[in-house]
Amino acid sequence: MNRTQFSKAIFTLIFLPGIVLATGNTKNRSGADDKVTTTNNGQVATITVDAGKTKKISNHLFGIFFEDLNYAADGGLYAELIQNRSFEYNPNDRKSWNPLTAWEYTTQGYGYGTLSVETKLPVHENNPHYVVLNVEEVGQEGIGLTNSGFDGIVIRKGEKYNFSTFIRQISELSIPFEVKLLDKKGLVYGEAKFTSDSKDWKKKTATITATGSSDSCKLVILAKSKGKFALDVVSLFPENTFRNRKNGLRADLAQTIADMKPKFMRFPGGCLVHGDGLGNMYRWKNTIGPVEQRLEQRNIWDYHQSMGLGYFEYFQFCEDIGALPLPVVPAAVSCQNSGGTWRIGGTGQRGLAMADMQDYIQEILDLIEYANGPATSIWGAKRAEAGHPKPFNLEYIGIGNEDKQTPEFRERFKIIYDAVKAKYPKITIIGTVGPSPDGEDFEQGWKFATENKVEMVDEHYYKEPNWFLDHLNRYDTYNRKASGIYLGEYAAHDVNRRNTLRSALAEAAYMTSLERNGDVVNMASYAPLLAKEGNTQWSPDLIYFNNTEVKPSVNYYVQQLYGQNAGDEYLTTQVKLAGISKAEAKFTPVSVVRESKSGDLIIKMVNYRPTTVNAQLKLKGVGLLKPVATQTVLTGMPNELTPTPQQSEIKVGKEFTCELPAYSFTVIRIKTK
Ligand code: AHR
Repeated sequence: MNRTQFSKAIFTLIFLPGIVLATGNTKNRSGADDKVTTTNNGQVATITVDAGKTKKISNHLFGIFFEDLNYAADGGLYAELIQNRSFEYNPNDRKSWNPLTAWEYTTQGYGYGTLSVETKLPVHENNPHYVVLNVEEVGQEGIGLTNSGFDGIVIRKGEKYNFSTFIRQISELSIPFEVKLLDKKGLVYGEAKFTSDSKDWKKKTATITATGSSDSCKLVILAKSKGKFALDVVSLFPENTFRNRKNGLRADLAQTIADMKPKFMRFPGGCLVHGDGLGNMYRWKNTIGPVEQRLEQRNIWDYHQSMGLGYFEYFQFCEDIGALPLPVVPAAVSCQNSGGTWRIGGTGQRGLAMADMQDYIQEILDLIEYANGPATSIWGAKRAEAGHPKPFNLEYIGIGNEDKQTPEFRERFKIIYDAVKAKYPKITIIGTVGPSPDGEDFEQGWKFATENKVEMVDEHYYKEPNWFLDHLNRYDTYNRKASGIYLGEYAAHDVNRRNTLRSALAEAAYMTSLERNGDVVNMASYAPLLAKEGNTQWSPDLIYFNNTEVKPSVNYYVQQLYGQNAGDEYLTTQVKLAGISKAEAKFTPVSVVRESKSGDLIIKMVNYRPTTVNAQLKLKGVGLLKPVATQTVLTGMPNELTPTPQQSEIKVGKEFTCELPAYSFTVIRIKTK
């Protein structure tokens, strides 16, 4: 036995899934060490693609699901830098919060006066709280307020920041004001001045150019003379928002989302939509128009929604990133877990009174008019007023989210469904079938959807990685004549709910099955999308961020690879495995699609095992191929959190080989001539 033979024998002896020779160590699900090898043990996958046997699949299969959870909106994607800008925080949001949360009364030197929060004569009835400051003695520097932002305001040298506020002078004489960006030591990073000049609410604006960079500035507004005034809606936006939109989105975060090339975006939630009790349902009309007129409310995830990121901004963002908008509205029932806590239970699902249903239905019809109606229609005019005369081309709407399948839910869903269909037959309505891939709500939801011929239903599931590998055939047997599928929420939850490569590969594997079933699965979106470090209520998530950095997870790269390499035709593919037992066949799923616009062939292959696999590809019935293709590989140790995809070139032809590394996801994109 020579050295090579000896090594081979050792490989053969100790090869079991999850336990092979090492190029590195990591813990597996049971906490034991996984060992990964780069050597192939004779495992070969012969992948035969028949380009003559194709089927059309959804051309918007992979998208995103944005929920205002984990500070995804305020303090996150929404670029506003001032926290609690309208003094509307209150203990209902969080017990320790009040209208002055994130604010500090600021007197410098020997100045003094009084500060109060008032509600008489507000800027708008939807925005009842504001502060009144009575400056009795102005002191050396002035008296005012300081806002600490969302754990600090990030300022970059040379960048412009748009400040605005509403002010109402209560005393007779005009009051000069100074606005400053200060760091913790009191160093000034930019300033502006304005003067009050009205006894009615008036918006004042100023541009501040940053003279330095800091990650932890505060905004200070100081009155520079004696007097009494009311102040509300204090705002500071970077001028550089995504696509330079006013009231826009944080550019780096929005770009990271755009880079996934999502074909649709579901918004604004999840549980956020049906809300914690009827009064907490997400009502779209409260979220449009001038920001000072929007009705803020408690976020079901235990914080506050300023609604600055509202329906107009969602539609605009969808358009900016080329994604179909997919709004979800409540099915006129609140969350079944409303009130109390998950542990002790709560008031349960409540339904809007039947007497209120006509108004509620009208609200949904108005939403469709807002998105699609001409600028001359009542709601289309409001869209045009906001700066978008052309329609947003809404094609899909979701009604309900994971709602308990009760008679109350069904009755309300049905009348909403019928009314929307009667007025807008071309809009596809997506129903809901509970929070799990099976069980009572799932079964009953499906039965109800089938009986009522609901065009699509929204399935949700969060399961351990192995579940996804064990269910690669889930949709193969779904009835193609029944409702289509929107897999609105899914994620592989690994131990401690961490974003491991293992979980990402389980998702990549599952997504091959979604492509194969892209004739019945119309859409799919990982959940949740965003999470701010230190303010996370749910994990794992796709993209983590803090005030200065965006940190895509390994799962993000899987979604991105699918989004950037989407096809609209599925090519029949056979995978024959040698050296791999039948039981392990599921660890090498493959999917091949063609993007008809470019003619590109895209091959996706997962190797969910600790050894490499030699892939021998045979492309039958394809025309001329460019001999060099791009190959992108995401690989690493299963417990790794930060592997990133690596791109290279690969020689291809009608027959070619490539190596699928241990624990890897490989995408090969071949141009046709
Ligand atoms: O994605 C997080 C939550 O999971 C969603 O709000 C809800 O729909 C599901 O239960």
